[in-house]
Amino acid sequence: MLNLAVLISGGGSNLQALIAATAEPGFPARIVCVGADTDAPGLAHAERAGIPTFVIRPGDFRSRDEWGQMLAAAIQEHGVGTGPNPGLVVSAGLMRILPEGFVGAFSPELINTHPALLPSFPGAHAVRDALAAGASETGVTVHIIDEGVDTGPVLRQAVVEIREGESEDQLHERIKEVERPLLVATVREIAEGSLDLAAVAAGRTGAD
Ligand code: GAR
Repeated sequence: MLNLAVLISGGGSNLQALIAATAEPGFPARIVCVGADTDAPGLAHAERAGIPTFVIRPGDFRSRDEWGQMLAAAIQEHGVGTGPNPGLVVSAGLMRILPEGFVGAFSPELINTHPALLPSFPGAHAVRDALAAGASETGVTVHIIDEGVDTGPVLRQAVVEIREGESEDQLHERIKEVERPLLVATVREIAEGSLDLAAVAAGRTGAD
């Protein structure tokens, strides 16, 4: 059983998809804690499911590094990132760049879902940027987090066509419809061992 720590900043629809999937009998992973950098509305999904939550705000610390250390410690308290079964940290809508020390502590068992086809449109405004660029398609990328911003090795991607005249919110909602099952499927593959994060990070195997 793979232990998951999920990190969020917002509404947490990807978190909710993971909660629903991991509640199914036979799913090879379980969520042991949910963390946020702010009072994210999505924390309510975890509370309803009886999953422990914590909020660690960057503004309460002197530096991003210190925030990262406290965030890492909170996750490790739940047994993720320590011991023989290190588990997996899933950034599912965490709108913060994780400090280097944090990445070093968990990567490659540290993944992110991003609403664009990386390397196109990295950063916090991926959906807006794709529309502004006049792209005809965008999508979702699930990737390993490394020290860069949305630069880590790609695990899985899915394409979403952009419709004429649609708003950022409309497009993001359609992306999320594709994103939620892709994230769940990727976590399943990692938990089953058919997707080997250490091998992908080392460049030993492609991620198809
Ligand atoms: C998701 O689309 C995720 O890819 C995006 O935030 C959304 C969270 O939705 N993350 C980023 O843009 C990170 N750069 P949710 O709160 O409904 O799961």
